[in-house]
Amino acid sequence: MVRPPGLTMLSLPARCLLRPPRRPLPAPPRRRSSGPGRRWLLTTPIFYVNGPPHIGHLYSALLADALHRHRGLLGPGPGRLATGTDEHGLKIQQAAAAAGTSPSELCAQMSGLFRDLFSRADVSFTDFIRTTEPRHRRAVQCFWAALQGRGLLYKDFYEGWYCTPDECFLTQAQITERPDAQGRPCKVSLESGHQVYWTKEENYMFKLSEFQEPLRKWLQGNRHVISPEPFYQVVRRWLEEDLPDLSVSRERSRLQWGIPVPGDSTQTIYVWVDALVNYLTVAGYPDAHHAWWPAAHHVVGKDILKFHAIYWPALLMAVGLDPPEQIYVHSHWTVHGQKMSKSLGNVVDPVACFKQYTMDGFRYFLLRQGVPERDCDYYEEKVIKLVNSELADALGGLLNRCTASSINPNGIYPHFSESCFRKGSDHMDVEASGRALAEDYELVASVDRLPLQVTDYFEHFQIYKALESVVACVRQTNGFFQRHAPWKLCRDNPAEKCWLDTVLHVTLECLRIYGILLQPVIPATADKLLSRLAVKPEERAFTDLTFLPRYHGKPCSFEGRRLGPDTGALFPRLETPIRRQMETKGLRP
Ligand code: MSP
Repeated sequence: MVRPPGLTMLSLPARCLLRPPRRPLPAPPRRRSSGPGRRWLLTTPIFYVNGPPHIGHLYSALLADALHRHRGLLGPGPGRLATGTDEHGLKIQQAAAAAGTSPSELCAQMSGLFRDLFSRADVSFTDFIRTTEPRHRRAVQCFWAALQGRGLLYKDFYEGWYCTPDECFLTQAQITERPDAQGRPCKVSLESGHQVYWTKEENYMFKLSEFQEPLRKWLQGNRHVISPEPFYQVVRRWLEEDLPDLSVSRERSRLQWGIPVPGDSTQTIYVWVDALVNYLTVAGYPDAHHAWWPAAHHVVGKDILKFHAIYWPALLMAVGLDPPEQIYVHSHWTVHGQKMSKSLGNVVDPVACFKQYTMDGFRYFLLRQGVPERDCDYYEEKVIKLVNSELADALGGLLNRCTASSINPNGIYPHFSESCFRKGSDHMDVEASGRALAEDYELVASVDRLPLQVTDYFEHFQIYKALESVVACVRQTNGFFQRHAPWKLCRDNPAEKCWLDTVLHVTLECLRIYGILLQPVIPATADKLLSRLAVKPEERAFTDLTFLPRYHGKPCSFEGRRLGPDTGALFPRLETPIRRQMETKGLRP
């Protein structure tokens, strides 16, 4: 039987949509507030192992890592970060056959590459799951049994288009025709451009259509559950369309590389159901997940939004569990304006990027330039320019200037003088405010506001904006330093020394705040910066973000402390390759 083309990913016969529910529909769950002290299970998508990792995969993982680290700074609440690899499915089965190896060997090799990359990139994962692990197989089979036990699965014939690279079924409206490499016409997915093929087989179907209303209610009551906002609207629009039932198994004769359907050796569980359940496996399902579920916060790319914002919440409601608390969605990286693809040969290797830009340099670039709402473009000159200007020059230069032995010969965190930098509302009056100027008070106000601003941006998944506001403050601090030219002040003159120390103290205080706030994004560089400022590891949390306590009349435990011994550059300037430099000057390399 041919399915009529529907509006969503899977098209199924109308009679499937009309089956009455066997039990009352679940009430849409309410969102729980998040905050320090609450449990928090942050996840990345699990990555396909049909090829090695690229910078897009790394970006997904870094976003999750930065959120996890930021959250860790907020308070001692228990938090986990899970990542891993998605190892079943036709795509992997075919990739292994093409590589002349077995699926399990391919998976072990590629999964190892992802794990190594994330360790090297300082991704602070607490669990790395592989879907071929026994703990996961058990979770998937229990999940399946729960769906079946609630009468939400039925067997039926499915006929339609299947896209193996995307591992999904497509309707007629979601495909188009394009010439292949040999110029022959072939059918491809409109969204991904990947080839599709006609499939006809008997599958188990999940009664997704029964969950349209509960899903709508869930979203209506949780405006912030999917962020950024434009993606929330996308999902709401999807739910205004027809929501057909979902095929959740494949014939075992076609797909052997997967988890068998319990009690039916002719069928393999659909790889997306298998993959999504990984989030429960890492929470301890089916035995001990209640401590961690539904405290789940998923980071996902826009291409897999429907799986996470429609299929997954529906599957969870179906087994009587709450949907995740939060879904953070990001867009994609292109390279010189083009989609990354093996056939174009433009896939960017993250390990090569670490070698070229340093690990923190590349982490900084991806998180500072990556805007979740839109695709972003990668090219070498852009990384070098950004990292040099913001990390090496603005931040590193500032540290270098205020700790130079010529200006701070004792190598200490100098004292702040209230008489030079008076507190009060009359700071516009130069006489009353000592030597501080109106712009200096603006700097103090900006840095005072910064921690809350940064936290707010992190909570709204706008990490790039958090970094933008830190950089704006770093530039303001450079302006402060330049304005008062402490190198011109004479240490032998007590009044000048007092002001010189105050200028240094304010600058170091600014740097201390930036160092703490930058830890989630550039952990190694932030550590170097804070160690140079003699900030101990136990003094680097959000509770230590009180800026310039002496200005507010409170004691400052850093005053008089000896600075850390590492006087090297905070961040090395990156070199544009000689060849390129010469080319820009019109010279032959
Ligand atoms: N295995 C599924 C996810 C299952 S989660 C239960 C999958 N894997 S993937 O390897 O194809 O993609 C993993 C993540 O990488 C997705 O979030 C995807 O959006 C992201 N990226 C893949 N290419 C990307 C870019 N070019 N740029 C940014 N992120 C990209 O989908």
